[in-house]
Amino acid sequence: MEKIIIKELLSRYGKYMHRNVEVSGWVRAFRSQRFISLSDGSTPHNLQVVVDPESFSQEIIRNIKIAVSLKIVGEVVESPGAGQSVEIVAKSIEILGDHFSDELEKTVLQPKKHSLETLRVQAHLRFRTQLFGAIFRVRSALSFAIHEFFRKNNFFYIHTPIITGVDAEGAGEMFGVTHFDLRSVPLGPEGAVDYERDFFGTKTSLTVSGQLEAETAAMGLGRVYTFGPTFRAENSNTTRHLAEFWMVEPEVAFNTLEDNIDLAEAFLKYCISYVLEHCREDLELLDKRFLDDQKAKPEKDRAKEGLMEKLENVVKKRFVRVSYTEAIGILLRSKENKKGKFQFPIDSWGMDLQSEHERYLVEKHFECPVVLFDYPKDIKAFYMRLNEDDRTVAAMDVLFPGIGEIIGGSQREERYEVLRAKMKEIGMEEKELWWYLDTRKFGSVPHSGFGLGLERLVLFVTGMTNIRDVIPFPRTPKSAGF
Ligand code: 4AD
Ligand code: MG
Repeated sequence: MEKIIIKELLSRYGKYMHRNVEVSGWVRAFRSQRFISLSDGSTPHNLQVVVDPESFSQEIIRNIKIAVSLKIVGEVVESPGAGQSVEIVAKSIEILGDHFSDELEKTVLQPKKHSLETLRVQAHLRFRTQLFGAIFRVRSALSFAIHEFFRKNNFFYIHTPIITGVDAEGAGEMFGVTHFDLRSVPLGPEGAVDYERDFFGTKTSLTVSGQLEAETAAMGLGRVYTFGPTFRAENSNTTRHLAEFWMVEPEVAFNTLEDNIDLAEAFLKYCISYVLEHCREDLELLDKRFLDDQKAKPEKDRAKEGLMEKLENVVKKRFVRVSYTEAIGILLRSKENKKGKFQFPIDSWGMDLQSEHERYLVEKHFECPVVLFDYPKDIKAFYMRLNEDDRTVAAMDVLFPGIGEIIGGSQREERYEVLRAKMKEIGMEEKELWWYLDTRKFGSVPHSGFGLGLERLVLFVTGMTNIRDVIPFPRTPKSAGF
């Protein structure tokens, strides 16, 4: 007996017509004791299974309920009903596993509308819902698109470490990793923790970024990227921050800042086109949810375009590129700023931009994705290349509507003495980063790279609004369940 998934059957039913096949899945609905809607997660669509009550025991029929798992063997036939072109006439039905019917109503599997908050509390069951099925299929497709983009462009995939002794962003937002018994941590002579006696013989943490290691790889392999989990111990309880998220970081030898921006734009457009092409049905479902969501909002806050339209426009339009200095000018002159509408008013060059400013530029002023570049050196990381003006660095952020910063990157400081002076200025330990400095000694070259937070891209593509809903098991302050 041929065992197939529902996606295969629905997309190539001609091949299976009038043949017997085996499908397994979960019951989404059972109408008139006759029609089962079966889902197996492979597609947003359900398969209709027709059951002739005469041919099966009462015991079986009675036990076909929502969320029950079934293995069905049946004949593929054309469907006379509206809504599907094909269905299966069941010849055998096997109930596969336990089903605690009386507990079902306490779960999100109960067929009614559940809030996203409730679904989050039952993150282990939300894979079974239509909405989260769509989100995680899209997330998977995006991950694949990322690898495909880089492979097509001759990049090598580098695995950078998760446990590290270096704070790559220099922001002090790292989770410590220790093998000490926390009841008796060994202390040195001055009362400081004696990390020499810890597992790695040095203070270690979970990585905030694979960039520095990726840079060393790019200095030999040319074009590389990392794609893995990264960790931030920043206590920001927002809809756009996670303590554990997946970051994609390309790093390219010989690339200037402008090349880097070109790469980021081509990369984002590729990934979005990919899902438009490969996840049409999931996007349609998400588009519908997006519309319903908009209807619930006051008129002035509603999105101007549907989800699909929004994605198509991003692929079509050229991203606007403006320097930080120009952007500050625009913000200073904006009505919002003059009327005191920003929570953080803009008053001078040199200020860091908050998400409200980024969103003003993208959503109100330019109405398209914006790339900001050449930021003040004091608000950016130590590794960014100092510009000739001596006060800005060759940094770039890509800002997206509804999201704000989706990508952050830069041209790297490749000049040994300039980098060393910068590290000294901000008090970074040369002995920890000797290997990083070393790459500037032997044939140093201009190079650039960036980081994309996968979850921010999934947020944008799915039209969801809380980052906790686009990663299967979100880690946020005070929450690491499952
Ligand atoms: O701007 P960030 O901090 O840059 C870096 O880490 C660089 N080392 C990247 C590089 O140049 N190789 O982070 C990059 C991106 C952000 O633009 C954002 O999309 C995402 O990572 N990001 C987060 N996503 C979710 N939760 C958080 N707490 C995030 N912090 C950053
Ligand atoms: Mg950033």
